[in-house]
Amino acid sequence: MIYFNNAATSYPKPKVVFDAVNAYFNAPTCHSARTGLEIDSDDHATSARQKLAKLFNVSDINQIIFTSGSTEALNLAINGIGLKKGSHVVSTTIEHNSVIRPLKHLERDEGIEVDFVECDCLSYVEPAKIEEAIKPNTKAVVVNHSSNVTGSILDLAEIAKVAHRHGALFIVDASQSAGNIPIDVTAWDIDLLSFTGHKSLYGIQGIGGLYLKKGLDVKPLKVGGTGVKSEVLTQPTEMPLYYEAGTPNMPGIVSLDAGAGYILEKGIDHIRNRKVEIVKTIIDKLKDYPEVEVYTRGKRNSYVNFCFNIKGMVPEEVGYILDSSYDITVRTGLHCAPLIMKPLGVYPWGTVRASPSYFTTDNEVDKFIEAIKQTVKTFVRKEK
Ligand code: ALA
Repeated sequence: MIYFNNAATSYPKPKVVFDAVNAYFNAPTCHSARTGLEIDSDDHATSARQKLAKLFNVSDINQIIFTSGSTEALNLAINGIGLKKGSHVVSTTIEHNSVIRPLKHLERDEGIEVDFVECDCLSYVEPAKIEEAIKPNTKAVVVNHSSNVTGSILDLAEIAKVAHRHGALFIVDASQSAGNIPIDVTAWDIDLLSFTGHKSLYGIQGIGGLYLKKGLDVKPLKVGGTGVKSEVLTQPTEMPLYYEAGTPNMPGIVSLDAGAGYILEKGIDHIRNRKVEIVKTIIDKLKDYPEVEVYTRGKRNSYVNFCFNIKGMVPEEVGYILDSSYDITVRTGLHCAPLIMKPLGVYPWGTVRASPSYFTTDNEVDKFIEAIKQTVKTFVRKEK
């Protein structure tokens, strides 16, 4: 199989990830402060936090907390900052449903106001457009760092300035960018940043997290056991315990530790350069085919994945043909990001998204290009 769906979940994982998780399951499972073992799970969690702190430039590792993924982290952030009737939030049309839905639920259930600033045809959102949408009651600006559809990248440093100039919190969804693009929460002055472990950080599914700037008042989504301070009948407030009730997902944390370690060892730019080389080669080779419309374009784009349509075919047809005839896996449809589709002019059918990986071979790239060329030749009706 040629797996071009890494933006959904990465495959394969580096061997060090497999080995680390395997080793974890081959020893007694233990949990911080709840065992007599000298080496316990805190070591893995601390190690993972240290590596993530390097990747995101976080000065205090305890400001990174683990969640089940970016969706939980975004729910925690968006629901935890005290938005209520009369609060206004600015977001964008490049968001994933993991931002759109928590905001729309607060709009429906709590009466908050939400504006999604429309992106341009390159799926970029100018910081000035975000500033235009801000009102006196704007409490938060929530943006996607990099679109999971086209790969466009927003200017977080500038948007943070806009948000803070108007007294709003700045929340970032880094699901697609974490592990792909260097992130600097300190220099860019980000308040809350969500990430997922199973995409470009090479962890397994079910692990992710949230960075919280020090001093923010964010309510936890859940409270419960922490393994320490058991005599205290409410949630201990020190970080990271405040947000980590319950038995942690240790296999996930172990995988994230190994995955982040792999990225630090190889170098994030080195890994990204290979992905960009692949994606740009494919886009370039498909330029000979006017029937292939590519929506990943412009300077402000990660080029680690790309999306396209073949004229006259719906994305699912293309995905089905690639899968059944060429054993190539892509993703088709709206990609959980419905609002970006109208500015791209592809609503309601969506696009085909191809996301190769660092491990993709040149041979796989050639096979993908050939598969698209054959699909165009075979299925696109020629005008007479
Ligand atoms: N959000 C993931 C994607 O874009 C699942 O495919």
